[in-house]
Amino acid sequence: KKLAVFVSGGGSNFKSIHEACVEGSVHGEIVALVTNKTDCGGAEYARNKDIPVLQFPRTKDGADGLSPTSLVDALRNFEVEFVLLAGFLKLIPVELIRAYPRAILNIHPSLLPAFGGKGYYGMKVHKAVISSGARYSGPTIHFVDEHYDTGRILAQMVVPVLSTDSPEDLAARVLKEEHKLYKEVVAALCEERIVWREDGVPLIQSRQ
Ligand code: GRF
Repeated sequence: KKLAVFVSGGGSNFKSIHEACVEGSVHGEIVALVTNKTDCGGAEYARNKDIPVLQFPRTKDGADGLSPTSLVDALRNFEVEFVLLAGFLKLIPVELIRAYPRAILNIHPSLLPAFGGKGYYGMKVHKAVISSGARYSGPTIHFVDEHYDTGRILAQMVVPVLSTDSPEDLAARVLKEEHKLYKEVVAALCEERIVWREDGVPLIQSRQ
């Protein structure tokens, strides 16, 4: 299956999924990397691996970047079937959501619906988890709808929150699980092992 990954930062999830595609544990191919920051670590990694880098959204002066419709056209030209958001900090336009129904995933570093939504990104999520007193946290992978962090939940993993944790400690523990979880989920996606329950909840089937 042909995949596009969207990143704004270091792109460690992107790298781990790319490695899984190359080694063959995920039957997918990353054919495009989309970013709002063409100098971020993820974009640099893509250029090194000869993965085309697309800029989205358009810069404020309009000089660079794609419009929502030209982004959809570009992804269609690359024959992209699934879109994976991995630390992409801009809202996904409705044009893309309509063009890719049930085909866009995001990873969020908390157990949604807790600590999600606009304003909960990066270290802010982990700070909020620690100061709430929650004893557990962990990544959530969900389908993307027209709002931040509200689409149907597909997979989660639980990690403990320790009393001595700094936000950075917790972030590192969650990120390690993110890499494992995203690879498993993308493997299932590429093997068409995701089924939709009647009430609209997506489920992952184990390999036969
Ligand atoms: C991850 O914590 C992810 O959950 C969040 O952004 C971070 C991206 O990390 N959406 P990386 O760029 O994949 O290292």
